[in-house]
Amino acid sequence: MKVLVAGGAGYIGSHCVRQLQAAGHEPVVVDNLVYGHRAAVAPRVPFHDIDFGDAAALERVFADHRFAVVMHFGAYCYVGESVTDPIKYYRNNVAAPLTLLETMLKHGVGKFVFSSTCATYGIPARLPITEDLPQAPINPYGQTKLDVENLLKALAHSHGLSFAAFRYFNAAGAAEDGSIGEDHAPETHLIPLAIGAAQGLRPALQIFGTDYPTPDGTCLRDYVHVDDLSRAHIAAFAKLDKPGTRLFYNLGTGTPTSVKEAVAAVEKVTGLEVPVTYAPRRAGDPPALYADATKAKTELGWQPKFMSIEPIVETAWRWHKACPKGFGDRK
Ligand code: UFG
Repeated sequence: MKVLVAGGAGYIGSHCVRQLQAAGHEPVVVDNLVYGHRAAVAPRVPFHDIDFGDAAALERVFADHRFAVVMHFGAYCYVGESVTDPIKYYRNNVAAPLTLLETMLKHGVGKFVFSSTCATYGIPARLPITEDLPQAPINPYGQTKLDVENLLKALAHSHGLSFAAFRYFNAAGAAEDGSIGEDHAPETHLIPLAIGAAQGLRPALQIFGTDYPTPDGTCLRDYVHVDDLSRAHIAAFAKLDKPGTRLFYNLGTGTPTSVKEAVAAVEKVTGLEVPVTYAPRRAGDPPALYADATKAKTELGWQPKFMSIEPIVETAWRWHKACPKGFGDRK
């Protein structure tokens, strides 16, 4: 199938493009390269350097290609920045997808796959998190994702849009062949920061909060390999044939891992010490987030290949060791 991948030069999108190719699909990428990397897009994949909130530019892409599905990975994802600059987040994470959805529907494309987040649950009412828990985001980032989920429900009703929204837990790791990996600028994510600190390329890792009500006092998260995320997305295509289909899935391994455990995994895998300092809690961090992904397993036959932190870190380490400057295009 020909698949439009919005945000296909970003971390998760670029990995998904390669998985799409491996599964025999034809991805076409649109990305404005604000955070994405041209070098992350797989060779021979058609690439359009446009903002997918730009209706005229998007029109030209839809006029050139006949897409079966649209996938959207192009959101901004810095929780802290979403608190200080909500307009930037609503513009890119809500207004731009609105344009994308409007354009695709106008061109008769009725299937959509959306990157949502566990941040839509806020502080979860129960753990592990199932899809039916109340969604009450505690920051604008999570709220923008929930707003799009709600828009998708409305479009399923009004236009017969079929969609799958995936609520990711903590995407991590890199392509197994070492070809691409995680390169955010600024980098705020635990694993690349811990690896960079171990390599002496970044400052000592600050561990944010040691007084959480968790076994070792640091936050618990559910790290899920970026290629496992992609495989779930592709598995959902087969479920979108009936107009008006609405699918919501958590994607995580269900294994809670503390910040200290993640740091220990980086030390074990790299054989290097991670220098750490202890800092106060980071605003907006829920103490524990981990998934019950039974629904994705039962309905999509999804089974993550990477079930624990160490093999995930191994893939990340392969990439960071080979490419210490990432894609080499950081401004
Ligand atoms: N952490 C540190 N030090 C750091 C960076 C992170 O201690 O320098 C801790 C955080 O406090 C958190 C854990 O490591 O407990 C993971 O933090 P990340 O920043 O790697 O990931 P988050 O859990 O904050 O964020 C992820 C996604 C977001 C999404 C969020 C949902 O990256 O896009 O999950 O909660 F919104």
